[in-house]
Amino acid sequence: EALKAVAIDGPAGAGKSTVAREVARRLNYLYIDTGAMYRALAWWALRQDVGCEPVALTALAEAAEIRLVATDEGTRVWIHGHDVTEAIRSPEVSQHVSQVAAVAGVRAPMVRLQQQMAAQGCVVMDGRDIGTRVLPMAQVKIFLTASIEERALRRYRELCARGVPVELAALQQEIEARDQADSSRATDPLRQADDAVVIDTTGMGLEQVIEAVLATVRRKV
Ligand code: C5P
Repeated sequence: EALKAVAIDGPAGAGKSTVAREVARRLNYLYIDTGAMYRALAWWALRQDVGCEPVALTALAEAAEIRLVATDEGTRVWIHGHDVTEAIRSPEVSQHVSQVAAVAGVRAPMVRLQQQMAAQGCVVMDGRDIGTRVLPMAQVKIFLTASIEERALRRYRELCARGVPVELAALQQEIEARDQADSSRATDPLRQADDAVVIDTTGMGLEQVIEAVLATVRRKV
């Protein structure tokens, strides 16, 4: 039987990872958080003091040993033997990651790794370029979005719940800046695939969004 893939793309804070993780659990598919891979790389680049220099970042990406380890409490993210699961959610990494992810030489090895991961089984993969670049043959493509106000508020609540101190206005600015950078970069920018199903989750509850995604999957798979 052919491997099945569900690609979920969309702007920052649309709830992609929460929805993708739960959809994967219910389908018994593997969940792959590609944003976590770029975040791990950005964390490593900050630690290595590499800055935004494309050649240096490319070398870093090509040598990066990134592992996503599924546990009962969710995916743990490792880079070069460091568990960075919590560290990659810091404001510092969030503010740096889009610059790292814009480098074509960084994206190539990440895309390759993601494609290898998807070749292992049925997957739900979320990111920015999954439907357009990583898995263009995915049976199901979802573009998950919501108003900027709602996305900022959701991220705010999520970080507050985790005890990360943030300001709502600053968070909204960071999300807008990241969307702007991700949509305007030259290599595989954030955009809706032609064959993606758009789900605008503004005003929707989590369970409602999960149901909408699962309904789309049932229609297509
Ligand atoms: O999904 P998340 O918000 O954690 O992603 C962090 C950043 O990683 C994005 O803002 C984007 O710059 C980059 N990214 C990407 N392509 C992906 C996933 C994430 O460029 N497939």
